[in-house]
Amino acid sequence: MIQPRLTSVLLFVAAPVAATLHKQSTPPMGWNSYNYYNCDPSEEIIKNTAEALVNSGLAALGYDYVTTDCGWMTRDRDGDGRLQWNETLFPSGGKALGTYIHDLGLKFGLYSGAGYYQCGSVDLPASLGYEEIDAQSFADWGGDSLKYDNCYSSSPDVMVNNSSPISQSPVRHQKMAAVLDSVDRDIAYYICQWGIGYNVGEWASPISNAWRISNDIYNSWRSIWRITNEVIPYWRHTRVGAFADMDMLIIGLNALSPEEERFHFSMWAINKSPLKIGAPLAESAIVPAESLDILSNREVIAINQDSLSKQARLILRYTEEEWDLWAGELSDSRMVLGIANWKNETQTVSVDLTVVGVQEANARDVWAHEDLGRLRGAGTWYLKGHEMKLLVLSEIAKPPLAPNGTGFHAAENATLSGSAVVESCAEDKCLPAGSRARYITSDSTVTFEGIASNGEGTKLLGVDFINYEIATDSAWQWGSNTRNMTVAVNGGRAKRWAFPISGGDWAEADRMFIEVDGFVDGDVNTVSFAGFGDSYAPDLVGFEVFE
Ligand SMILES: *[C@@H]1O[C@H](CO)[C@@H](O)[C@H](O)[C@H]1NC(C)=O
Ligand SMILES: *[C@@H]1O[C@H](CO)[C@@H](O)[C@H](O)[C@H]1NC(C)=O
Ligand SMILES: *[C@@H]1O[C@H](CO)[C@@H](O)[C@H](O)[C@H]1NC(C)=O
Ligand SMILES: *[C@@H]1O[C@H](CO)[C@@H](O)[C@H](O)[C@H]1NC(C)=O
Ligand SMILES: *[C@@H]1O[C@H](CO)[C@@H](O)[C@H](O)[C@H]1NC(C)=O
Ligand SMILES: *[C@@H]1O[C@H](CO)[C@@H](O)[C@H](O)[C@H]1NC(C)=O
Repeated sequence: MIQPRLTSVLLFVAAPVAATLHKQSTPPMGWNSYNYYNCDPSEEIIKNTAEALVNSGLAALGYDYVTTDCGWMTRDRDGDGRLQWNETLFPSGGKALGTYIHDLGLKFGLYSGAGYYQCGSVDLPASLGYEEIDAQSFADWGGDSLKYDNCYSSSPDVMVNNSSPISQSPVRHQKMAAVLDSVDRDIAYYICQWGIGYNVGEWASPISNAWRISNDIYNSWRSIWRITNEVIPYWRHTRVGAFADMDMLIIGLNALSPEEERFHFSMWAINKSPLKIGAPLAESAIVPAESLDILSNREVIAINQDSLSKQARLILRYTEEEWDLWAGELSDSRMVLGIANWKNETQTVSVDLTVVGVQEANARDVWAHEDLGRLRGAGTWYLKGHEMKLLVLSEIAKPPLAPNGTGFHAAENATLSGSAVVESCAEDKCLPAGSRARYITSDSTVTFEGIASNGEGTKLLGVDFINYEIATDSAWQWGSNTRNMTVAVNGGRAKRWAFPISGGDWAEADRMFIEVDGFVDGDVNTVSFAGFGDSYAPDLVGFEVFE
């Protein structure tokens, strides 16, 4: 497989807390009350949903954590400083609810926050400063997991402050990890810090089972693009027992078309996100049967729960054409391919298996439940609007000749115009060059001369870039976690690509592959990068042509 470069993957600083909290090796699955019931859960809702999980067969497929999100506790702690379940909403209390859930063969998911007050409230107490007492209560009630949020973390007056260094700091979440680890019950820990600040995967993956990487999912198709572009760099941190959480599934909420629900489920599954249902399963008139079928797809669940726990990688992006090629390793030397049609119209695309390191393989079309026989070389695929095709490849034969890089071209050696400048970076940053061009706009270019091409036409380029423009405040509008950059060859048309988030800060690069036309034979090509529209391009570290 052509692989984006390994950057500082092996260089993390060890976290202060031991990794003993990893309770589940594969991504957590279950249901959470927030997406439909907001911060208004009740005992009846939780019990009815737990029963519906069992009766629908979803529990048997692995959806076993039943989580009561915000809104369960009273305004006042008891005389011993303990959180109390609101008796109006939960007349039987937390321990009885835990028993009820356990008796159904399910697991009891709890929720609190690392701040003064709870999210979605103005006065409900959260766990900051009460970590030991609360962790003991969670254990006493029979809790099996804790989702730990991040509201009112810097001040009792401000619910969400994404730019506050206190809100961004790992310290409060690390504290709860250590305390949970010391109670006498296995409680899986799901950090919900929203991916703000820096290097969240580095500090969260050693201490939690799953960590949220983004602002909340919004019940609309546009969330799928935004969160997908944010999860991409977490391939460095996702592993057995540690998963980047793309947030709850909006399947069955009548927010997406069935095709879009399959796309959403596919994208979450191959990225090894936890699979948390948000639909009101107990209200059968609301959840379409087709949505239940999608959530129940055993083959897609098996991809998500594969024992290797390898996050898929974005392999090739075609932004103007609006589709991506994804690939991920599976156990037994298999591979999953994802062909994602971001366009809301049908299109036929061509995929050459050699770019994912495959000469030929047996293929199964997962959503079609169809074995396609042996595939080799380039093939065309018909995609419906917003369809994501999933193929599982097995019995893979590797090609004798995979595409090779023909030498790296550093932006520091390019000719700059306009506002673009080259800066050098700290050691091990802006890899592989150690420097990058910044402030690339539509009026400024980064131009490379004398680029070699073996033959004319379309070439595969690996582009090393940096983008850390995180959509937090803009997340529910049109924030996309991308930056546009154009590429023009030999004075041809400047074509646009959307570059996703590259790493954990403004100096961690990733590589994205693109196909660019217009090359001529010989050492004579000019390749020019530029911004697009009113906003900056990603920083450009350099690129390489593959033959
Ligand atoms: C319990 O919940 C009800 C309904 O939301 C609310 O009116 C009441 O104030 C809550 N009680 C306490 C003690 O927080
Ligand atoms: C958010 O935090 C920043 C940095 O600490 C601070 O300057 C700003 O005033 C805070 N915003 C609010 C609304 O409190
Ligand atoms: C996709 O196209 C369909 C049919 O034209 C339309 O109803 C739907 O609103 C479009 N979806 C989005 C997300 O734009
Ligand atoms: C790629 O490099 C390998 C090793 O140097 C070489 O054997 C192979 O022929 C090259 N492939 C192509 C397509 O040039
Ligand atoms: C960039 O230019 C320097 C100085 O001319 C040269 O030593 C180096 O090899 C070049 N690097 C790349 C990656 O082109
Ligand atoms: C990238 O360009 C597209 C097409 O013009 C536009 O819709 C999108 O908003 C741009 N994205 C950014 C982050 O500027």
